[in-house]
Amino acid sequence: MMMVRAVPGDKNIVAYKPDPAGLKLRLIAAQRLKSVLGGEHFSPLGAADLADGRDRALANRLITTALRRHGQINAILSELLEKGMPPRSGTFEAVLRLSLAQLVFLPDLGAHSALFLAVEAIKRDNKARHLSGLMNAVLRKAQSNSARYGLMDEGNLLPAQLTEGWVKAYGNDAVAGFADALISGAPLDLTLRDMDPDLIDALGAEPVFADTVRLETRDRPVEALPGYDEGRWWVQDLASAIPALLLDLPGGSDVLDLCAAPGGKTAQLVKAGYKVTALDSDATRLTRLRENMARLGYAPEVVEADAAHYDPARLFDGILLDAPCSATGTFRRHPEVLWHRSAADIAGRVKLQRALMTNALRSLKPGGTLIYCVCSLEATEGEDQVDWALGALPDLVLAPIRPEEMPGLEAAIVPKGLVRTHPAMTAGNSDGGMDGFFVARFKRNG
Ligand SMILES: C[S@@+](CC[C@H](N)C(=O)[O-])C[C@H]1O[C@@H](n2cnc3c(N)ncnc32)[C@H](O)[C@@H]1O
Repeated sequence: MMMVRAVPGDKNIVAYKPDPAGLKLRLIAAQRLKSVLGGEHFSPLGAADLADGRDRALANRLITTALRRHGQINAILSELLEKGMPPRSGTFEAVLRLSLAQLVFLPDLGAHSALFLAVEAIKRDNKARHLSGLMNAVLRKAQSNSARYGLMDEGNLLPAQLTEGWVKAYGNDAVAGFADALISGAPLDLTLRDMDPDLIDALGAEPVFADTVRLETRDRPVEALPGYDEGRWWVQDLASAIPALLLDLPGGSDVLDLCAAPGGKTAQLVKAGYKVTALDSDATRLTRLRENMARLGYAPEVVEADAAHYDPARLFDGILLDAPCSATGTFRRHPEVLWHRSAADIAGRVKLQRALMTNALRSLKPGGTLIYCVCSLEATEGEDQVDWALGALPDLVLAPIRPEEMPGLEAAIVPKGLVRTHPAMTAGNSDGGMDGFFVARFKRNG
């Protein structure tokens, strides 16, 4: 809690003593936000970053609000900072964004702490302390405009560079739903090893599709949920659970999971009874895959290799290629993807996806099945890649996905028997949405 004392003689001015916990959590939140602004992937602060659970929850709330409202905060900043963001100024930008998130979008947290602690935080940063006056002035101006800023046009929430293509692909209503989904975030989806009604009850979960259940809790550490230690489920968005279900091969088939870490789909393939080889090029992510499999009691073969050059000794009955992509479909949990992706960056991934698909064919038996999927909302990484593959890889034919394979989610099947999900789509009785995913199923001519 903030300590407040009135300044004698002036009832409008109060001086604040920095509350060490409030200041510390802001300093840590600012460091995390700074690294995300610098291009890193967002992951919420954990107990190792900030031991106190309440402080951690508050710090994470500040960071996620700053990221979800990034577009609106950009618009506010362009009004407030006439000369733009001061260059090479340490944590200045991160502290300012966190404080604007609090002032404008989290009014329940109070304005005074946003202002005072921002200035105190800046004074503790050698690269930014000379800007404490600017911080103070900018936040005071923001405070007097906060009601107007709070009513700001939601059109600023999503970057224009991406929305243009989305409106064409999904229509205006869906894109308005994307903005809502960005603000509300995502529920917690789990894939269950077995659909035990007692476990589902104990989790307080609701079945939404196949073996995915949904929990509305968004803050509880997953390790504390029933069944975690026993490896009875793993965290995986509903949409992410669709591709592995569509492989549709007999039990015991030899399946290669390309780009497998951290292993959500690997676990589904093992659960389906296939003989699974999980491959990824990233050793750190493979360590996580191994840990995840150990918790679940699953034992796929694990290979560290570059999927663009992998040349195995045997051919596989089925291949799942969950290709690296722009990940724009995951913006509910990773709002930063909206602001990190340039057109050139997406074009680079399109090229890599083609190389991976081409090389995957070298490992596929004639008559075998290839699932290609991406967690992207961009047609260039999805629908357009199918057109490219059918032209460039004459061995491949489409194996259309049938409505009976997607009970309750038939609406996700689009022309040519492809699957397309997006965050404004609903499943079951839940209005919690799902990630944007694209899935195509091919057969190799045999
Ligand atoms: C979308 S993630 C995979 C998620 C995973 N399939 C799951 O369900 O948990 C993409 C993965 O591709 C891997 N990757 C990127 N380039 C690769 C390459 N050339 N060869 C193999 N893996 C690659 C990354 O390390 C990353 O783990």
